[in-house]
Amino acid sequence: MKKVLLLTGIIAGALSFTGCGGAHGNDPGEAYMPDMYYSRAYEAYGYNNQPEDHNLKARGAQYNGMPVPGSIARGDAFPFALPAGDSGYATAASYKAPGQPASITPEQSKEAQRLYQINCAICHGTALDGNGPLWKGGDGPFPAAPRNLMDDYTKKLSDAQIYHVITYGKGQMGSYASQVHPAERWWIISYIRSKQGPAAAATDTAAKATAPAAGTGPVAPVVTNATK
Ligand code: HEC
Repeated sequence: MKKVLLLTGIIAGALSFTGCGGAHGNDPGEAYMPDMYYSRAYEAYGYNNQPEDHNLKARGAQYNGMPVPGSIARGDAFPFALPAGDSGYATAASYKAPGQPASITPEQSKEAQRLYQINCAICHGTALDGNGPLWKGGDGPFPAAPRNLMDDYTKKLSDAQIYHVITYGKGQMGSYASQVHPAERWWIISYIRSKQGPAAAATDTAAKATAPAAGTGPVAPVVTNATK
């Protein structure tokens, strides 16, 4: 017992000589290699306020840190050139978008199914039949009937038209541009196509008739489902 008391006394005594109070209270001490503690922060996309030798603007360059207009991030698709609205949608009927991949990988297809189930199935149904839980054959809360993506009408839409619809929305369907990345939109379209199967031949001419006349925009050769 005595030993314990003695030990406690020694420790308490030692502590009373140390501790963090006193003159050094707010002093963080000496910084070894201060550049590593306090880095020179460049503001992304901002004018930088670095010293002269690092400051392109101060050296006369027209530089603001922004990507050059029209830049495409590495691995990103070309922008979709068609505008929102009826005219863009009509042009899309015979438009081959430069950003559309020729094919997608099995992994992308699997991801497309997941993205479809997250973003589209709530209205268009897990079976793509236009009868998702928000519609429920008219009993659901959504006011407009979602399109049956398995019907001939949708089979005859061009890929670019579906891309246009996902990007800008149509009628009661809103835009999904902020939810679905441009590349993923093509994957979802590819997924829908893989479920659809070929369109019925009898109404084939009807779809072609809705294609705009030549010269109404950046029209590439007509790509119908039948040719793919
Ligand atoms: C909130 C409900 C809702 C969601 C979610 C939704 N849609 Fe729609 N979609 C609709 C409705 C309603 C229509 C019918 C619009 C019209 O013709 O007025 C429609 C129409 C369509 C059409 C036919 C367009 C045409 O040219 O007539 C396609 C294709 C389509 N949707 C694809 C998708 C895809 C792909 C997604 C997921 C990225 C999606 N939709 C998500 C409600 C929805």
